[in-house]
Amino acid sequence: MIEKRIALLGATGSIGRQALEVIEATPELSVCALASGSQPLDELAARHGVEHVQTGGDLTELLERAKPDLVLNAVVGFAGVRATLWALERGVTLALANKESLVAAGDLALEAWKRGGGLLLPVDSEHSAVFQLLDGRAPRAIDSVVLTASGGPFRNRSGVELESVTVEEALAHPTWSMGPKITVDSATLANKGLELVEAHYLFGLEYERIEVVIHPSSVIHALVRLRDGASLAHLGYPDMRVPISYALTFPDRRATPVPGLDFSRGLVLELEPPDPERFPLLALAREAGERGGTYPCAFNAANEVAVAAFLGRRIRFTEIAAVVAEALAGVEGTPARDLEELEAADAEARRLASGRLAAA
Ligand SMILES: NC(=O)c1ccc[n+]([C@@H]2O[C@H](COP(=O)([O-])OP(=O)(O)OC[C@H]3O[C@@H](n4cnc5c(N)ncnc54)[C@H](OP(=O)(O)O)[C@@H]3O)[C@@H](O)[C@H]2O)c1
Repeated sequence: MIEKRIALLGATGSIGRQALEVIEATPELSVCALASGSQPLDELAARHGVEHVQTGGDLTELLERAKPDLVLNAVVGFAGVRATLWALERGVTLALANKESLVAAGDLALEAWKRGGGLLLPVDSEHSAVFQLLDGRAPRAIDSVVLTASGGPFRNRSGVELESVTVEEALAHPTWSMGPKITVDSATLANKGLELVEAHYLFGLEYERIEVVIHPSSVIHALVRLRDGASLAHLGYPDMRVPISYALTFPDRRATPVPGLDFSRGLVLELEPPDPERFPLLALAREAGERGGTYPCAFNAANEVAVAAFLGRRIRFTEIAAVVAEALAGVEGTPARDLEELEAADAEARRLASGRLAAA
């Protein structure tokens, strides 16, 4: 395997910490840059012998200094946009966990990716699975893709019960251990909505060819339906070290500490359709994606504002969707021609969502 110098953005987070574990176990991988939002990085930098470190600010300055072979973008939220565009524009391999950047900046990212001509490797487990299932397959053989969703901790709660769920309950995810924002997104299904848009841009698929199905045990990560009626599935225990390792060691495939499936205890695979009534953010994301322009950016921005307000105990769980719906209704959604216009669209959606919060 060739040696790779990695810029790890979001090093202090859930993905960041698991990535460091993978890197430590792989001699050809080293860290050349570390970034966080506010937590200090001195200890991590000393342990991994990293020269280039940055906390907050414009992450492209760090990337310019470090000149990595691979950028692992594991920042949470819109804050990851500049780094995503930087890597795509320059043809530097991008291992992408920060789905929000591809959702918000999808059209700009595709243009930059085309110009840069580098690799874009999804770290999201579902997209990593689809990437592997599509590998080497003729586009004409593909009918559609299916993303699985655990359904989160509130899968069986009634609409009335959802009104009073607490932050602690929302943060107790049944199958994945993740940062707080994506954990809440998993509980509202906004995460699967973001992933729909992410899949549209990553794989060039129209929205009607991307399906979502609830699968509580998270063993099937995704399926690809072929034209002849067959479906291929990607299975494994839910553990992000597998897709992280896949992206960092691509095209090699290295061993991880994660065991293969154990059938001796039996394995039940339950699948059911999502409920749009109780989890409206999934349909809202699909609609924003289909409308295109800066609607997905606005969806993401309003959702970030609403999730932060829920985590800060300023709104109820069910109000997250209401804030996003109202913000989407208020934006124009005109396409962004450059990063400046995109940042303006993001700011406008945040303003609308914050206004709705103030009125609540
Ligand atoms: N966790 C998972 O299993 C999982 C799975 C699939 C996809 N993802 C995606 O991966 C991304 C990270 O998720 P996570 O669960 O690892 O989140 P997390 O645990 O909350 O970590 C977020 C990381 O981003 C950093 N950060 C925040 N704002 C920043 C800024 N302005 N500039 C630089 N760094 C900043 C944080 O630094 P501080 O610690 O200093 O705040 C932290 O290192 C998200 O986009 C998420 O959707 C996560």
